Amino acid sequence: MADDRPVVDAGADDIERAAEAALRPRRLDDFVGQEVVRDQLSLLLDAANARQTPPDHVLLSGPPGLGKTTLAMIIAAEVDGALRMTSGPAIQHAGDLAAILSSLQERDVLFIDEIHRLARPAEEMLYLAMEDYRVDVIVGKGPGATSIPLALPPFTVVGATTRAGLLPAPLRDRFGFTGHLEFYTAAELERVLRRSAGLLGAELHDDAAVELASRSRGTPRIANRLLRRVQDFAQVRGTGVLNLAAAHGALDVFEVDQLGLDRLDRSVLQALCQRFGGGPVGLTTLAVTVGEEPETVETVAEPFLVREGLIVRTPRGRMATPEAYAHLGLRPPAEGMLFS
Ligand SMILES: Nc1ncnc2c1ncn2[C@@H]1O[C@H](COP(=O)(O)OP(=O)(O)OP(=O)(O)O)[C@@H](O)[C@H]1O
Ligand SMILES: [Mg+2]
Repeated sequence: MADDRPVVDAGADDIERAAEAALRPRRLDDFVGQEVVRDQLSLLLDAANARQTPPDHVLLSGPPGLGKTTLAMIIAAEVDGALRMTSGPAIQHAGDLAAILSSLQERDVLFIDEIHRLARPAEEMLYLAMEDYRVDVIVGKGPGATSIPLALPPFTVVGATTRAGLLPAPLRDRFGFTGHLEFYTAAELERVLRRSAGLLGAELHDDAAVELASRSRGTPRIANRLLRRVQDFAQVRGTGVLNLAAAHGALDVFEVDQLGLDRLDRSVLQALCQRFGGGPVGLTTLAVTVGEEPETVETVAEPFLVREGLIVRTPRGRMATPEAYAHLGLRPPAEGMLFS
């Protein structure tokens, strides 16, 4: 792997993002799953194209790796506009945003990733730009400073966020359309895997696709990553074909189990069930026990464990559910001791 990220982490670093670029669907029709959002977007884009105006601003929300950046690129391609990419953290000062806004051309799509991390002054400048297609450029300093309004050509903002709840209401309201991306079904992930295998020029057997899809945590990014690891395995230790044996081989090497849990996830569960009798136990204590940073446990392992109903967060700390014991093949403690 390019870095030390767990193989089932839904996040990605720069090197991985480059590998992903080759697998990105370019058009809405190639985008697998997310029927609701796709249908809504298709209506929005067709209408805008028919009117020959840029589409309304679009906000995309959802967990990492589900296709927000991909959709932003697709929107630009579908309206035949240029894509300008930036992100909340990259815009430190309102001036940074002013520079980007004042260089926009008609029909451009301005993609702002992690838009919930935009600084407040930039956010206010964005309100004006989104609503009135105007940016006030401040000239000079102190009491003598004047603001010169600059008209912007019609353009579209596509914002992406993993935390829609953190977006201030005035900003949220300026998006004409919000698409919520959901986790993918196993059948959808199989389609993602088949499509990716085709692009990689690899032969993927059906049973291998089924196996990988069921261990990908509902996330195309993870599916694609597991696929690349299976391709590695098939090439080096197999026959070159991505068959079930290669899939199992790679999943074993990277210690990804039936549910898609990796070693860290299982250590967290084991610590919770065996060391702490099912909890409740605080995050820091749990993290120290498995030798990880609390943040890693909280952002990498926990969301999926909670989603799968293996652990619950309570005000007193994390607790294991009976399903956690069952998954580890352990006997749960006596009745009434567990959260259920
Ligand atoms: N619907 C889809 N069909 C096919 N491939 C997809 C789909 N959604 C995502 N992918 C693939 O998954 C990978 C990750 O997608 P993307 O970068 O768009 O996720 P993201 O939501 O922007 O994640 P992050 O929150 O980390 O920025 C890409 O390589 C993309 O090709
Ligand atoms: Mg993204």
